[in-house]
Amino acid sequence: MDELKEIERLRNELHLHNRHYYVENEPRISDREFDILMRRLEELEGRHPEAFDPNSPTQRPGSDIAKGFTQAAHVYPMLSLANTYSIEEVDAWVRGVDKLTGTADTTLCGELKFDGTGISLIYEHGRLVRAVTRGDGEKGDEVTDNVRTIRSIPLVLQGEGWPEFFELRGEIVLPWEAFNRLNAQREEAGESLFANPRNAAAGTLKLQNSAEVARRGLDAYFYYLLGEDLPYATHFEAMQAVRSWGFKVSDAMTLLHDIPEVDAYIRRWDEARHALPVATDGLVFKVNNLAQQQELGLRAKSPRWAVAYKFAAERALTPLRFVSFDVGRMGIITPVANLEPVLLSGTIVKRASLHNEDIMNALDIHEGDALYVEKGGEIIPKITGVDEAARVPGAAKVRFVSHCPACGTRLERVDGEAAWICPNKWGCPPQIVGRIEHFVGRRMMNIDGIGEETARALYEAGFVRNFADLYSLTADQLMTIEGFAEKSAERVVEGIRKSTEVPFERVVYALSIPFVGETTAKKIAKSCGSIDRLMTMSQAELEAIEDVGPRIAESILEYFATPVNVESIERLRAAGVQLEMPEDEGAGALSDTLAGKTVVISGVFQHHSRDEYKELIEKHGGKNAGSISKKTSFVLAGENMGPAKLEKAQALGVPVISEDEFLKMTQTDNQDA
Ligand code: IVH
Repeated sequence: MDELKEIERLRNELHLHNRHYYVENEPRISDREFDILMRRLEELEGRHPEAFDPNSPTQRPGSDIAKGFTQAAHVYPMLSLANTYSIEEVDAWVRGVDKLTGTADTTLCGELKFDGTGISLIYEHGRLVRAVTRGDGEKGDEVTDNVRTIRSIPLVLQGEGWPEFFELRGEIVLPWEAFNRLNAQREEAGESLFANPRNAAAGTLKLQNSAEVARRGLDAYFYYLLGEDLPYATHFEAMQAVRSWGFKVSDAMTLLHDIPEVDAYIRRWDEARHALPVATDGLVFKVNNLAQQQELGLRAKSPRWAVAYKFAAERALTPLRFVSFDVGRMGIITPVANLEPVLLSGTIVKRASLHNEDIMNALDIHEGDALYVEKGGEIIPKITGVDEAARVPGAAKVRFVSHCPACGTRLERVDGEAAWICPNKWGCPPQIVGRIEHFVGRRMMNIDGIGEETARALYEAGFVRNFADLYSLTADQLMTIEGFAEKSAERVVEGIRKSTEVPFERVVYALSIPFVGETTAKKIAKSCGSIDRLMTMSQAELEAIEDVGPRIAESILEYFATPVNVESIERLRAAGVQLEMPEDEGAGALSDTLAGKTVVISGVFQHHSRDEYKELIEKHGGKNAGSISKKTSFVLAGENMGPAKLEKAQALGVPVISEDEFLKMTQTDNQDA
């Protein structure tokens, strides 16, 4: 009975992780943890055939299909690989292969397992005709335009001897250097960071703007040739030919003749992979002889003729010094393990997040425990376990705090979540400092020279107790703070003065109204026009603004019902900060050609990005909507508009117009969009 419940629980859990991984590109657990859950589910389903469900996560690979792309069916299904985690498991696989093929000396091809996103390329008569993502294994998204921007992929083949029709599989990767550059730019712009190169590569390949894809610097390695009647006897030979046609095939690819050679190969690359320009998460071993591959055939989700070997995440054991509780800008309390510094994958780790109370309790940490810290493909280290055997007898269990460590207020649990929050929003120092830091950020008031430490120092010195105090800060005061000299202090004061020119919509975002992010702030600013109007709007009026629901409306009401906030705003006004939209325009309006019209955007565009088209629609008085309905005035369609959308537009009689028609229609001054 219990096992049936466990099956149900595991299915739900795995469906959720599949979504985090494939749809949101933000996995919450490691591949290894995922595999452990999947194996357990497979085992239980094997024992309970009565619980068979065609929709179980074991019955299909995850899908990466995204909105806005045309789908194409794969000629050969795109399978995944079974994983192994030790030389013993590889050995067992080889013995199984030997048995099936009736040989005792199967030659293997060893290669790197690139940690990117899989791609299938179709070449006809020596030219690239189509590139499709893995999708759900049966069909994927056509991303040919984006793939064409990758310089290491030949659009026209070199050399000779290539088949007239073939498919080539490989991995699109974002090399470490490009990955680090991209994240640095995103950090600068206040955007969320990619956790690893794999997510960054997958996210980039699905961008609607090919020019941006080209800028990011993707690369690709190839490892599998498919086609009818190919003239090669072995996989290795085929891959040498692929290399000669102009593709990148890794030099690490090599033939292995027995288990000791496999073992040596694993040891060598577990070390050497750290010096590679791209991320790898393991190795792949393939039966080299193509006739043998054919004979071995496929299982439901993976071939019998290949396995992946996954490198263990680098792990270290280090003593816990203490658990601290960080207070974020929005009051959320995060437990953090403060560790004896330890070297892990080339960086020194001193702190690791324990995320929330549930995760912390599940680890069952006691004072003085030695903790396992892991760093896989992710940048942020995490605590994965405790060395229970080494626990000091009688050591106390580490418990979550009941009161805010910064201001002493009793914590409250966030509804339906594992998070605790300090409700003293306007009086709790780290929350105030966090808001000051947010206020000066590049996408808000854009005041240079004040980072986290300066914000804290200014608060502690009593100079800036609230973001409005910034406008009475003097260079003399700044010079008492470490790191400031006359010139740098004056520069900051000048930056603060200049911030009074920042447009109202960014001021709304800078105020740190809970739940009001950048886009919502823009919509609110445009809709209300001024802070005075915003401060007197009712719940119903607020909810009438696009993107504002009951929770955001309540949060705005509460914000302006709090005296310190009203007072701060009055001081911003006195300092000359922009508290209304400029009078002469509805935010850069170009015309009212599209007044009263609702436009849906679909497909890939040549002349402008999607965001630019959105802006153009608004500047011409129209509204952009996400899905087609009876209210849609027309669909602005680029190349490869989704077939579902096209069908719906036709069914509802909604006109579909091309990019060029649209540009003609709105021909005023589009250049600056
Ligand atoms: S062979 C039918 N070789 O790993 C097997 N895959 O976990 C075809 N991958 O979907 C795949 N490096 O995206 C193969 N040297 C390599 C690989 C590799 C990375 C990816 C690929 C595959 C996934 C399976």
